[in-house]
Amino acid sequence: MAGTRCVAISTCFYPTAIPTPHLSKSFLVARFSIAQWKHTRVLCTERANKAAIKESHELVEIEYAELNLNQNIGEKFGGVRIRQHVNPLKASLMTPVEPPNWENIFEDTRLPLMVDIGCGSGRFLILLAKRFCGTKNFLGLDIRDKLVQRSQFWAKELAIKNIHFMVANATVSFGALISTYPGPLTCVSILCPDPHFKKKHHKRRILQKPLADAIINNLAPGGQIFMQSDVQEVAVDMRQYFDSQYDSLQPMYIHHPNLCDDEGWVLENPMHIRTEREIHAHSEGAKIYRRVYEKR
Ligand SMILES: C[S@@+](CC[C@H](N)C(=O)[O-])C[C@H]1O[C@@H](n2cnc3c(N)ncnc32)[C@H](O)[C@@H]1O
Repeated sequence: MAGTRCVAISTCFYPTAIPTPHLSKSFLVARFSIAQWKHTRVLCTERANKAAIKESHELVEIEYAELNLNQNIGEKFGGVRIRQHVNPLKASLMTPVEPPNWENIFEDTRLPLMVDIGCGSGRFLILLAKRFCGTKNFLGLDIRDKLVQRSQFWAKELAIKNIHFMVANATVSFGALISTYPGPLTCVSILCPDPHFKKKHHKRRILQKPLADAIINNLAPGGQIFMQSDVQEVAVDMRQYFDSQYDSLQPMYIHHPNLCDDEGWVLENPMHIRTEREIHAHSEGAKIYRRVYEKR
């Protein structure tokens, strides 16, 4: 609401290259023990991290300013805290969700549907829904219950009727859920998914073959997939699933040198609305690796 102050709530922090202030080791060694030096380095890094986080939170608020969202609702949802990752393989998240009665959810269920998988705070999708009011429906899926509740609260408060958020493990629920939507599925986005860096945790990554297949099978001809990550190996991992489906999917923009780099990564966000993670990554100077595909 107007005039409310931002409470720094983030949904999408994971460690990347946050700049550390330059410290000359030889200078420090002269005055401190190694232990003191390490302690000082940790403190400086923490301070730099806090400054970077504060700054990128401000950038997030600017990006979504037109929504004028009520930020003072943390307590209502038991607090939405920074947590690095939730394990999507935990038993409670492995049961596919029941498809809803879509007529109870959207005013016009014949409208084209866009699904944002791993929608985080939901602000990116709320802004899109506001811009496409009356012409498209939007569905956000996330495994974090409190984030979903808060997104749904915001959508209701703004009286945006063409959007809905659901708690769902997309990896196990997407196909059965989306196949029941009456209208065409015209866009699916997977934006900056949790990287799960350790090899033994790669199976927790959101895009696994069954999900990639379910997206492609449910997408209407001409429908689009928009994927991106600020972690190159995660983007390459997702890209491999979709590039391998050449018979069904056509990568977009790749023949336009102004729109793609030499490796085929799309330079600009085609929605012209950055996600929260994207804003944080940009503020750290990171590159975003993105691809857009069209169903043949
Ligand atoms: C790093 S955040 C990115 C959020 C947002 N897309 C952005 O770019 O700012 C990744 C989100 O994906 C959600 N997520 C992870 N695994 C998921 C799964 N299997 N199904 C649905 N959501 C998932 C997490 O809870 C988290 O909110």
